[in-house]
Amino acid sequence: MGSSVYAVEAEGLVKRYVVGGLMRPKRVVEALRGVSFRVSKGIVFSLLGPNGAGKTTTINILATLLEPDGGEARVLGFDVVRERWEVRKRIGVLLSVERGFFWKLTARENLIYFGMVYGLSGKDLRERVDEVLDVVGLNDLGASDKLFEEMSLGMKARLGLARALLRDPEVLLLDEPTLGLDPPSSVYVRKLLRSLAEKGKTVILTTHNMYEAEIVSDKVAMIVGGRIVIEGTPQELKKIVAKKVPVEVKLRGTIYDGGEGVRKDLVKVLGRPVYLKFSRDNDILEVRIVVEPGEEERVVEKVLRVSQSRGLRVVEAKVLEPSLEDVFIVVASSGGKDGGG
Ligand SMILES: Nc1ncnc2c1ncn2[C@@H]1O[C@H](COP(=O)(O)OP(=O)(O)O)[C@@H](O)[C@H]1O
Ligand SMILES: [Mg+2]
Repeated sequence: MGSSVYAVEAEGLVKRYVVGGLMRPKRVVEALRGVSFRVSKGIVFSLLGPNGAGKTTTINILATLLEPDGGEARVLGFDVVRERWEVRKRIGVLLSVERGFFWKLTARENLIYFGMVYGLSGKDLRERVDEVLDVVGLNDLGASDKLFEEMSLGMKARLGLARALLRDPEVLLLDEPTLGLDPPSSVYVRKLLRSLAEKGKTVILTTHNMYEAEIVSDKVAMIVGGRIVIEGTPQELKKIVAKKVPVEVKLRGTIYDGGEGVRKDLVKVLGRPVYLKFSRDNDILEVRIVVEPGEEERVVEKVLRVSQSRGLRVVEAKVLEPSLEDVFIVVASSGGKDGGG
């Protein structure tokens, strides 16, 4: 029953999907393996994790769109299963940026439609629609009367946020609100999320972008393989790597296996637990290793040798400031399964 000090409480959420059947063997995917967290009111909270971690599943459960197989969750004190209608009145939801709008209607017309669905009408409706178009910056972009199908992804994301804000909800549940957006739109959306929290709204978002989580969130929970592996403010999380030195080496060459071979070689050569992260961009393979102070040169030399033996060229090697990315590398490779990256 309502009136909780927390905006959201999740306790031991479990969710399984059964996949296969028909021609394929049935298999159970454990999407959530006991996810618990609490979110205080009026903050930005990020669920941060790689693809397949369980972020969307968690948002769907909180949004009452999916029932958990175990555990429970409350939004503003209301149970997301038994009191789903109470929850629905109080949340604004953004799932996939492109889904659920009418392609042949303008941004404004779409919002008028959804406003009517939510029970608004007349002058109130028109004013509220104009207000949210302002808040998300669509009026400024001159995009409020553009057809949905003619809008850029950034504009569509803003429209999705506008719809989530229509009923002035206390809690916003946003699944990857900046996924695929151009940088100016991402920056705008992040600023908007901060300003909503400053006005007392609770913003819960998912992201796989470490940088985003670090700059936008009051609190971050890292989720890997259906489990929360660590939780705290970005500053608290960064303490874990405060005394460590992230080294980034960029390699160029022909890579067939996403870097798996180099990774294995490096682990062998460095001879003790090291944390690696690969991401592919053009022909460049980025190797990120979190080392102890004083080890930087020795480690870079070893990376150089391994790379040469695999016909790769080192195009850049640098020492970085510790970031949330390094927390993730350290935590994910020591605790959870699925290294991510
Ligand atoms: N409808 C579904 N049917 C079967 N498996 C699913 C379904 N939705 C998600 N999964 C699986 O559950 C896990 C978690 O998925 P998801 O919550 O979408 O993760 P994320 O949003 O962090 O990428 C993944 O292994 C994914 O493949
Ligand atoms: Mg997802």
